[in-house]
Amino acid sequence: MELVLDKGLRVKLEALYGGSVMRIGILTGGGDCPGLNAVIRAVTRKGIQEGDNILGILYGWKGMITGQHEELTLRAVSGLIHRGGTILHTSRTNPFKEEEGGEKVVATFKRLGLDALVAIGGEDTLGVAHTLFKEYDLPVVGVPKTIDNDLSGTDVTFGFDTAVSIATEAIDRLHTTAESHDRVMVVEVMGRHAGWIAVHSGMAGGADVILIPERPFDLDEVSEAISARHARGKSFSIIVIAEGARFDSKNDKGHVKQTEDLDEFGHVRLGGIGHFLANAIEERTGFETRVTVLGHVQRGGTPTAHDRVLATLFGVRAHDLVREGKFGMMSAVVNGRIGDVTLEEAVKELRTVDMKLFQIASIFSG
Ligand code: F6P
Repeated sequence: MELVLDKGLRVKLEALYGGSVMRIGILTGGGDCPGLNAVIRAVTRKGIQEGDNILGILYGWKGMITGQHEELTLRAVSGLIHRGGTILHTSRTNPFKEEEGGEKVVATFKRLGLDALVAIGGEDTLGVAHTLFKEYDLPVVGVPKTIDNDLSGTDVTFGFDTAVSIATEAIDRLHTTAESHDRVMVVEVMGRHAGWIAVHSGMAGGADVILIPERPFDLDEVSEAISARHARGKSFSIIVIAEGARFDSKNDKGHVKQTEDLDEFGHVRLGGIGHFLANAIEERTGFETRVTVLGHVQRGGTPTAHDRVLATLFGVRAHDLVREGKFGMMSAVVNGRIGDVTLEEAVKELRTVDMKLFQIASIFSG
């Protein structure tokens, strides 16, 4: 049964809880990510504890157009902390691709009787949240989600630790085959614009070469590095490459993509550069070279303990922001502590890999 927060009920609840009660919508947009359910649980549990009424908006921004939603009760969020994906489903819908999309979102917000909205997402979802706040005065707060870890304003996003752990485990396992068969193993990880997953998993897994979108790479240099390593007596090599990495100007063919189609935010579907690289290395060095594309395995399944805790802290902070009326803000980790930043700051530019970290990782290459 849906609890409609009409005026009479609101007054009764406010008397019961000794303060104002709010009807808060929550949505998840963009790619799924380990920890989404932990945020949904945290906002719901804390909200209900303080007398609020929490509404799950289905399919991200699409739900704010169609109005698809479900009431989030304590029972609905029970047993969620360890579950991957999102019980609210997600989409890459950009409401501003529709005529009067912003007005439609505002109309749905009013129709559902919402007082505030919590948007959990990455650059695209939070970019929409920022525009809705700035141009439509929508009371929205954000929570930073992405395995790519490329949002500004926060030291880290939830989901990243899980993706790095999965990629590191994969590299560990691929070492076995690389060593046994004297092969070069190329591991393609996610990372559309930023190579955080590649650098962290590459460092943790002891990769011999790490290739990231921020640094176009020279095929000859990579092949020579592999040959030099083998000349020193090593019989195998591991190369970690981010899906968004590119060859330098000599060989650049643009991004390697799976289709020519763009999503509603103008992104191509990446994937496959590992195969190009492997063929080129095999041809140039003569070493047998194999590829593993980790793909969505990095986003699926249970979040690490770190991501469960981070997602919970982000959710609690997001609810605080709503309660304090600090709209247009996002939960964040600022200098190692849970805090908040403006959505404007979070989406103004992507946070790419720190080149000092990349240089440190390079000490262990070859
Ligand atoms: O932004 C996160 C991410 O996992 C990127 O690394 C990747 O390019 C993209 O999402 C893939 O999205 P989808 O699953 O929609 O193809």
